[in-house]
Amino acid sequence: MRKPIVAGNWKMHGTLESARALAGEVASAAAAHPAVGIVVIPPFVHLHAVRDAIGSADVALGAQDVSPREEGAHTGEVSTRMLRDVGCRYVLCGHSERRQYQAESNELVAQKFMAARRAGLLPILCIGESYEERERGETEQVLRAQVEPVLRLGGPAAFESALLAYEPRWAIGTGKTANPEQAQTVHHFVRSEIAHYSATIADLLPILYGGSVKAANAAQLFAQPDVDGGLIGGASLIANEFMGIVSAATPRN
Ligand code: 13P
Repeated sequence: MRKPIVAGNWKMHGTLESARALAGEVASAAAAHPAVGIVVIPPFVHLHAVRDAIGSADVALGAQDVSPREEGAHTGEVSTRMLRDVGCRYVLCGHSERRQYQAESNELVAQKFMAARRAGLLPILCIGESYEERERGETEQVLRAQVEPVLRLGGPAAFESALLAYEPRWAIGTGKTANPEQAQTVHHFVRSEIAHYSATIADLLPILYGGSVKAANAAQLFAQPDVDGGLIGGASLIANEFMGIVSAATPRN
């Protein structure tokens, strides 16, 4: 069974003070949800303070990006070792905002993903199509092209100890969520792409959905068999709303 995971991507929001406060609220509420893996992903400069605010609570720390290189003259970059050192367990690779505004290619994203794997971090490979690509019927082709370089560099084993996040670009920050059937169809497609290489790895791979997830729509999305939790943007900045989403991810049987 895949444990549900709900990760809050705080993007470029907040101050040191607000980051500490939000992390503290999530940490205090986390004990009530032991069946869900909770992850907070603050901006780099807030990681250390957020780690301290989490303390011993069962909340994992993640970073929004990482350098594919190990060390050296790379001004502005942050290495996998630095992330490990500050207490990160997860790292986003290829968030659509980085693909779009920083022109990150599928190839570069795969290199970041592999660097994270080598360092023992859990990479979350973010994939997703634009509205136009969906309208042109290119969704599967776009997603395949985003996953393929990782398979080329690391084989199917690259997806052991890793996660995928399907975030359709047209659903991010727009209030337009993919409906549960749309999400399920894509998640199933992506899982079967990996299953061509290894059914076991595909079966264990957590695939999160991201894009305008809120406490009010989360339960329907998470009820889909191939949706293993969420990658939450805007709603993760409000502790109550975020914990509502965590609650919706709690397995009920
Ligand atoms: P929103 O939840 O704000 O749509 O953002 C989704 C996202 O990009 C999470 O990484």
